[in-house]
Amino acid sequence: MEKIGVFYGTTGGRTEAVVKKLQNFFPNNECEFFDVAKGISEIKNFNNIILATPSYGAGEVQDDWAGNLSDLESLDLSDKTFALIGVGDQYSFGAFYVGGLRELYNILENKEAHVVGFTENSGYEFDDSPAIKDNKFVGLVIDDSFTCDEVLKRMSAWVQEIKKEFK
Ligand SMILES: Cc1cc2nc3c(=O)[nH]c(=O)nc-3n(C[C@H](O)[C@H](O)[C@H](O)COP(=O)(O)O)c2cc1C
Repeated sequence: MEKIGVFYGTTGGRTEAVVKKLQNFFPNNECEFFDVAKGISEIKNFNNIILATPSYGAGEVQDDWAGNLSDLESLDLSDKTFALIGVGDQYSFGAFYVGGLRELYNILENKEAHVVGFTENSGYEFDDSPAIKDNKFVGLVIDDSFTCDEVLKRMSAWVQEIKKEFK
């Protein structure tokens, strides 16, 4: 498998901790990590790409992502395969659960990029979420309330799926 570029935004550090757990499932250093506070120019060097964001405001992408959305819109994304991770708090944000995930997805969808790794939304307790399309989350959703074991279990199942799609 080609290398995977993992691009994440994080304000409190949780999303960074979540994405670093991917190393459990790609033990041969397949993942290269990029904090989008430093920009997203490296995306051009990867065909397998994971984008991760927590949600802030009313279901919006994290601040560093907000500053990079126009760059994402301007990139040539053909031949690339994307998978998304959203981090959020299902008990505190009403209808906006992991809304930032949807913001990233919408850009990719508008550009007709190849997005894989949709997941079932059972086993969560949110009111509503902009990140649901056709009854599925548009990526892997990790809640603040999850134990480490729950995170690893969901991530493991998701990684098995996206590995089938990555080049
Ligand atoms: C001011 C504020 C607004 C938030 N808004 C949302 C939201 O709209 N939807 C959601 O699912 N989570 C929301 N959250 C929860 C964060 O996304 C969650 O705590 C996440 O783990 C933070 O990730 P980070 O530590 O990587 O920044 C919000 C948190 C804060 C502090």
